[in-house]
Amino acid sequence: MLVADNVAVITGGASGIGEATAKKFGEHGANVVIGDIDESGGTETVADVLDAGGEATFVRTDVSREGDVRQLIETAVEEYGGLDVLFNNAGTEGALADFAEYESDDFDHVVDVNLRGTFYGMKYGIQAMLADGGGSIVSTSSVASATGIMGRAGYSASKAGINAMTRAAAMEYAEDGIRVNAILPGIVATSMQDRVAVQRPDTTDRYEISEAMPGRADPEELANAVLFLGSDLSSRITGVSLPVEGGFLLQP
Ligand SMILES: NC(=O)c1ccc[n+]([C@@H]2O[C@H](COP(=O)([O-])OP(=O)(O)OC[C@H]3O[C@@H](n4cnc5c(N)ncnc54)[C@H](O)[C@@H]3O)[C@@H](O)[C@H]2O)c1
Repeated sequence: MLVADNVAVITGGASGIGEATAKKFGEHGANVVIGDIDESGGTETVADVLDAGGEATFVRTDVSREGDVRQLIETAVEEYGGLDVLFNNAGTEGALADFAEYESDDFDHVVDVNLRGTFYGMKYGIQAMLADGGGSIVSTSSVASATGIMGRAGYSASKAGINAMTRAAAMEYAEDGIRVNAILPGIVATSMQDRVAVQRPDTTDRYEISEAMPGRADPEELANAVLFLGSDLSSRITGVSLPVEGGFLLQP
């Protein structure tokens, strides 16, 4: 029980990495508050967390809307008495287009969800943690923040921004007992990855070999990293962007 009685807010908890992390935190005794635009998926995750022995609530949340994120954090504090762990994980791959054809509205959308959404989470999460003696924030970045991913300029920029905000917030709140870290997934078997593969079948083969380790990551392998960064096991770690990518970034 690494996070027993902790209060954990998880965005994007209706599916994929967020869903696996919600279950993992439930298994380790946490009270989990799930924020997502997908109400049916979020409700299913709540049931899974309860089955795993934890407590859980769903709050319909569009992370690109400041008021929604404020409400999500307030619900955690009101229902469970504070905030210990915040996982900013909701994200979208956004439109697929090369630079010359990338529409401004599409660029705004991916940045609004991935970067602005993480900013709102950090802002209100930090406020709640300052009132509660500290905590741990983990955000989902991507290997796309460190490499060139073709056709996804807005996505890459949004994820690089998350790394930068992670370092800044880690510095600003180190003395307040708030640790701030990010994870960099590579190729994870989720619905997002399935969509990406269909959109760009010409690169599917390349994706299959882009991690040095064979195959794709299971979402639970990312959840384990979030559990590590969210719990006291990582008590001296702040400001890092941790690759969890089977060696993706090692390759030429
Ligand atoms: N799957 C991969 O290979 C991979 C690789 C690198 C990074 N990531 C990142 O991991 C995170 C989780 O993605 P996943 O792979 O689990 O995909 P997923 O599609 O299974 O899950 C994403 C979740 O985010 C939710 N969401 C989307 N927009 C939202 C919004 N505006 N407000 C609230 N919720 C919203 C979706 O409803 C969904 O439940 C994302 O930030 C993604 O960019 C994934």
